[in-house]
Amino acid sequence: MDNERFLEGKVALITGAGSGFGQKMAITFASKGADLVLNDVNMEGLEETRDLVLKSNNSKILLIKADVSDSKQVDDMARQTFDTFDNVFLLVNNAGIDGGLYTALKAKEEVYDKVFGVNVKGPLNVTKAFFRRMKRQKQFEPVRGKIINIASTAGTQNGHNPMLGIYSASKAALIAFTRIWALELGSSNITVNSISPGVFLTPIYNNDPKLIRQFLDSRNVKLPIDKIGEAQWVADLALFLASSTADYITGQNLIIDGGLTLSVNKL
Ligand SMILES: NC(=O)c1ccc[n+]([C@@H]2O[C@H](COP(=O)([O-])OP(=O)(O)OC[C@H]3O[C@@H](n4cnc5c(N)ncnc54)[C@H](O)[C@@H]3O)[C@@H](O)[C@H]2O)c1
Repeated sequence: MDNERFLEGKVALITGAGSGFGQKMAITFASKGADLVLNDVNMEGLEETRDLVLKSNNSKILLIKADVSDSKQVDDMARQTFDTFDNVFLLVNNAGIDGGLYTALKAKEEVYDKVFGVNVKGPLNVTKAFFRRMKRQKQFEPVRGKIINIASTAGTQNGHNPMLGIYSASKAALIAFTRIWALELGSSNITVNSISPGVFLTPIYNNDPKLIRQFLDSRNVKLPIDKIGEAQWVADLALFLASSTADYITGQNLIIDGGLTLSVNKL
């Protein structure tokens, strides 16, 4: 079992860290001793996350405002990161947008460019900018680094999201990348997994449980575990993947959804 401070000396880079899951993961990793590189397009959100982390931890924190869909900004983020830190052990591709509600064939080009830009090209840009350095981190053997992609059940169970077709396709692509990168990076002892949350109370749903209930009711979905997800549960699953208990897990898409996907399968 890992000790209480098992992320001491390790740096976690989290994209989309100014809100929702990203914010919770920052606080959770810091509680185990991690230093942090926090990225978002929203600087105010990043400052809020930093202040929350520093309330109970003394982690070293670097805030970087950058758009993950822009490879130049991401390359610059890598430069800034390694000017400050000597490693990135955990790379969490969390930034994501839903792009609004449209049937896939009615979505405008600017919408699918934006959604695929942030949700697919973003993780690709970030992973490309960091994996070479991660490969060299022999000090952390047996695993030199871990990549966690935040996907979605929308990427595996497309039927319950008829108005989120572009988003669903983008998350399916991210799950495919998870498997492909796990194959490509396995021999360098880097693990790559994705987490696919179902429905969770975060700003993506305006932190409004009623909105989520309406969404589920409109699709006639009853959650087997009849609770709306809390962001902390996703952060805890990411922490499990970060721990040595998960060192032999790679290329997996871990679904955390209270049984949402089972319920959809029943329809
Ligand atoms: N909340 C849910 O129920 C749910 C379910 C499944 C998957 N997800 C996924 O979880 C991830 C986090 O979502 P959340 O619910 O915490 O939402 P959120 O909106 O609270 O957080 C997303 C963060 O990403 C940032 N961001 C957006 N575009 C960016 C860009 N181009 N570059 C850098 N940062 C950018 C936003 O500013 C925001 O702070 C997303 O990938 C989302 O698709 C969420």
